[in-house]
Amino acid sequence: MIKKGIILAGGTGSRLAPMTKVTNKHLLPVYNKPMIYFPIDTLKKSGVTELLIITGAESAGDFMKLLGSGRELGVHITFRVQDGSAGIADALKLAENFVGSDNFAVVLGDNIYEESFKTFFDNFRGGAHIFLKEVAFAQRFGVATLNKQNEVVKIIEKPKNPETNFAVTGLYLYDASVFQKLKTLRRSERGEYEITDVNQQYIDEKKMKASFVKEGWSDAGTHESLFFANKLARDIALGGNMKN
Ligand code: DAU
Repeated sequence: MIKKGIILAGGTGSRLAPMTKVTNKHLLPVYNKPMIYFPIDTLKKSGVTELLIITGAESAGDFMKLLGSGRELGVHITFRVQDGSAGIADALKLAENFVGSDNFAVVLGDNIYEESFKTFFDNFRGGAHIFLKEVAFAQRFGVATLNKQNEVVKIIEKPKNPETNFAVTGLYLYDASVFQKLKTLRRSERGEYEITDVNQQYIDEKKMKASFVKEGWSDAGTHESLFFANKLARDIALGGNMKN
């Protein structure tokens, strides 16, 4: 059972420059709403209204102005500031007090999903759970290799020559043992603390489960993916009726 959710909305958004020069990526519009509304909605649809949003100091005030306590959106929001932008796993460390010993969900602030994951949230009993999507160009993502039983045996972050086209999307369910794992991490070649390294530890412990995203999904961190995310958001807003 999961009743707490973390949204990661830090980082520099450098791949969306110059749009992110004065505005945090997650405040940019995606069709009809600021980007951050989508991960909030994903958590809400999955039955989670107790949220922690983590972002950088430069933008924290803007998020508070936009979202307030969360009351208007039907959620309760706590904020934490990540100093710098040393990676997803670095940001996640800040969730330890909020989470305590509970199970919880993490959504990357630039990931947009169409469906509800309520069944997975309700049935989660520990370990970790990730959600995969087949994509045309997997090089930009964490990429999962599955065995014959459809279990994840390996995840490689942004491989030059991906073994599969199964992208690891930005929704993760964890138990509180993740905070011990986060303490063991070293910076990757690109200088960040990688969520993929945390997930690999769960795989090695045989505590990782994976499912496929059934409906629409997009990230929005590059010009192309933001463009696609706008079309997906339009489909969601119009009930999937107008695909052109
Ligand atoms: O979108 C899915 C992909 O997201 C996964 O397939 C990859 O395995 C995962 O590493 C991630 O890759 P990206 O390179 O797209 O991540 P990005 O640096 O764009 O960060 C994603 C979100 O995480 C971003 O919207 C805000 C948050 N973040 C990121 C950094 C680097 C933080 O909160 N703090 C940070 O320091």
